[in-house]
Amino acid sequence: MGKIVPFCVWIGIAFLMTCVRTMDTAVAESEINIISRAEWGARPPKSRVNMTSPVPYVIIHHSYEPDVCLNRSQCEKYVRGIQNFHMDTRGWDDIGYNFLVGGSGDVFEGRGWDVVGAQAGPDWNSRSIGICFIGNFTDKLPPKEAISAGKALILLGVEKKKVVTNYTLYGHRQVRPTECPGNEFFKLVTQWDHWKPRNYTAE
Ligand SMILES: *[C@@H]1O[C@H](CO)[C@@H](O)[C@H](O)[C@H]1NC(C)=O
Ligand SMILES: *[C@@H]1O[C@H](CO)[C@@H](O)[C@H](O)[C@H]1NC(C)=O
Ligand SMILES: *[C@@H]1O[C@H](CO)[C@@H](O)[C@H](O)[C@H]1NC(C)=O
Ligand SMILES: *[C@@H]1O[C@H](CO)[C@@H](O)[C@H](O)[C@H]1NC(C)=O
Ligand SMILES: *[C@@H]1O[C@H](CO)[C@@H](O)[C@H](O)[C@H]1NC(C)=O
Repeated sequence: MGKIVPFCVWIGIAFLMTCVRTMDTAVAESEINIISRAEWGARPPKSRVNMTSPVPYVIIHHSYEPDVCLNRSQCEKYVRGIQNFHMDTRGWDDIGYNFLVGGSGDVFEGRGWDVVGAQAGPDWNSRSIGICFIGNFTDKLPPKEAISAGKALILLGVEKKKVVTNYTLYGHRQVRPTECPGNEFFKLVTQWDHWKPRNYTAE
């Protein structure tokens, strides 16, 4: 009796903690609707370089152009437009970002977790996941649906061991000479978990 009771309590606590952890993952996954490349009609990449996971950084962007989209079909059209721009005008292998987030709260798979992006320059691409919020967030914030989807996507990356648990979050402007992800949005990003101060300096 003397030893069995504490043992049962211990097992009970361990079981509860497992349940809570499982629920956490389930929450992260169910909060996000990830639209695959096939679903949004992506062109195949010209080439791909595998990512070494988990990565230590997450980098936040805005698209600047086009401006925000508010429903899935319009966002899909914008994502296809961004891919065309990156491949045909910029000459990149594929859409640059690892993921994109629409104003509707839909998440679009770009290069995904496992492929190195073209989003933050050669020093950062192979050690970061780049997430682009579609819209021009110079003077306004992304819709709240987009913000919660973007945050849930980062949590999912940690759960899937694609992003380290103690990752560092930066806005694009902290690693490259750019206004991205827009003044208004950047101010908000500096309040997110894991954000760290850093100023861009020519490397
Ligand atoms: C990249 O990853 C894919 C999918 O896991 C794998 O099939 C391929 O062999 C890898 N390529 C290299 C160069 O490691
Ligand atoms: C999506 O948004 C666009 C632009 O505002 C609009 O033209 C279109 O009708 C909307 N589509 C749906 C299904 O709501
Ligand atoms: C983005 O928003 C800013 C502030 O409203 C505006 O000055 C700028 O022209 C916009 N950019 C585009 C490409 O629309
Ligand atoms: C994150 O954790 C790893 C492993 O414990 C450690 O080596 C690394 O320095 C930590 N990074 C940061 C930014 O704290
Ligand atoms: C970045 O620059 C701002 C404005 O010049 C300054 O206040 C801040 O201390 C700098 N941060 C770092 C980490 O150097």
